[in-house]
Amino acid sequence: MLTWRIVKLGPNARFSTICLHAGQVPDPATGAIITPIYQTSTYVQEALGRHKGYEYARTQNPTRAALEANLAAIESGKAAFAFASGMAAINAVATSLRSGDHVVVSDNVYGGTFRLFDKILSRYDLSFTYVDTADLGAVDRAFMPSTRMLFVETPSNPVMRLTDLAATASLAHRRGARLVVDNTFASPVIQRPIEFGADLVIHSTTKYLNGHSDSVGGAVIATRDEDIEWLGFVQNAAGAILSPFDSWLVLRGTKTLPLRMAEHSANGLALARFLEGHPNVKTVYYPGLPSHPQHDLAARQMRGFGGMLAFDLGSLEAARRVLNGVRLIALAESLGGVETLISHPATMTHASVPAHRRAALGITDGLVRISAGIEDLDDLKEDVSQALDQIP
Ligand SMILES: Cc1ncc(COP(=O)(O)O)c(C=O)c1O
Repeated sequence: MLTWRIVKLGPNARFSTICLHAGQVPDPATGAIITPIYQTSTYVQEALGRHKGYEYARTQNPTRAALEANLAAIESGKAAFAFASGMAAINAVATSLRSGDHVVVSDNVYGGTFRLFDKILSRYDLSFTYVDTADLGAVDRAFMPSTRMLFVETPSNPVMRLTDLAATASLAHRRGARLVVDNTFASPVIQRPIEFGADLVIHSTTKYLNGHSDSVGGAVIATRDEDIEWLGFVQNAAGAILSPFDSWLVLRGTKTLPLRMAEHSANGLALARFLEGHPNVKTVYYPGLPSHPQHDLAARQMRGFGGMLAFDLGSLEAARRVLNGVRLIALAESLGGVETLISHPATMTHASVPAHRRAALGITDGLVRISAGIEDLDDLKEDVSQALDQIP
C-alpha cells in the first residue's frame, strides 16, 4: 500500500491525465517509462535492518504499489489495496466486521457476493438484510442498532437498478455505519462514489479497469485512516494479493479507461435504443433510456451510462434463440472487456441465487444481459438483429 503520491501531476490535473500517470514514476533503476513487472518473492537487504522499504513480496511489491496509488487517485480515495479477485476484495472489506454485526445489502447484488454473505460469512455470527436500496425508506427500516455497513451495488446486476449514493451515504453516516459501494459496473469514469460520501469502494478489476478480458483481480479504495490501516494489515495477514503481472495488466488498462468507457457507453446507449424499438423485445433495462424509472438519478450521479444493459424476451426459448444465434458477440460470463459479451443471468451469473429471489428481482428466464464492447456499432446491431430474427 502506498497513499497516492502526486509525482508528475499538478494539483489541477484532469481525470484522463490522472488515469494515465497517477502512481507512476520512471523506473528508478533504468528510467523505463512503464512500471516494470517486479516478479520477485523477496528483496535483498543491504545490512541487518537496512532495506529499501521492500522486504517480502506478499507485504510489498512495487508494481502492485503503483497500481494501488493509481486506483486511489482515480476513485478520489486516500489509499487502495489490490486483491487476487473482486471476491477477495469484498471478503477483505467484510473482515472489518465483528461477530454480532449486521449489514444492509442491495437485494440484487452480484450472485457471488450474495453467496459469500449467505453461505460463508453468516457462519461467523454476521447477519445480512437484503433490501431494494433504491427505496430509501426500506433501507432506513432495515437498519438495526448492530448495523455497521450498508453494502450497495449501483447500477445493479443485471436489471440496472440505481441507488442514490448521496442519500444512502448520509443515511449510513447518521446511523453510524459505513457506506460500501461496488463500483464495478459503472467504473470510476462514469461514477465516483467517494465524491458522494461513500467510505469504501470495491472493484472487480477483472472488468472495466483491466478491460481486456485477460486478468482476474479486485481492489478496495478507502478514505478513512482506520480502514486503511486495517485493510493493509488484512492484505498482508490473509494474503489474497494481486500478482505483479496482473497488477501490471490493470495498470496498463487504466491508461485507456476514459477512452474505452466513452465507446462502451456510446455502444450501450445505441444498442439499448435499438432493442427498445424492436418488436421481439418486451423490456429494456438501461439507465440512459428516458424510459428507465431512475433516469433522472442516473443523469445526476453518472457521467454517461456505461456499457451494461439487459432486456427481457419473454421466455426461455426466445432467450435461447438469441443467445445461441449471435455470431460476432460471444456467449460468456463476465463483462467490461473490449469485446461484446452476451449472457443469461438466470442460468449463468445468478444461478446460485434461489429461484424465488430471482423472480422477485426481475431476473426472469427470458432476461438476457449484454456487456457492450467497443466494436463498430453497425456490426453489433447487425449481429443482434439477425439473432432476434431467429425468434419465431
Ligand atoms: C459487480 C461485481 N462485483 C464483484 C464481482 C466479483 O469479481 P471477481 O469475479 O473478480 O471475483 C463481479 C464478478 O462478476 C461483479 O460483477
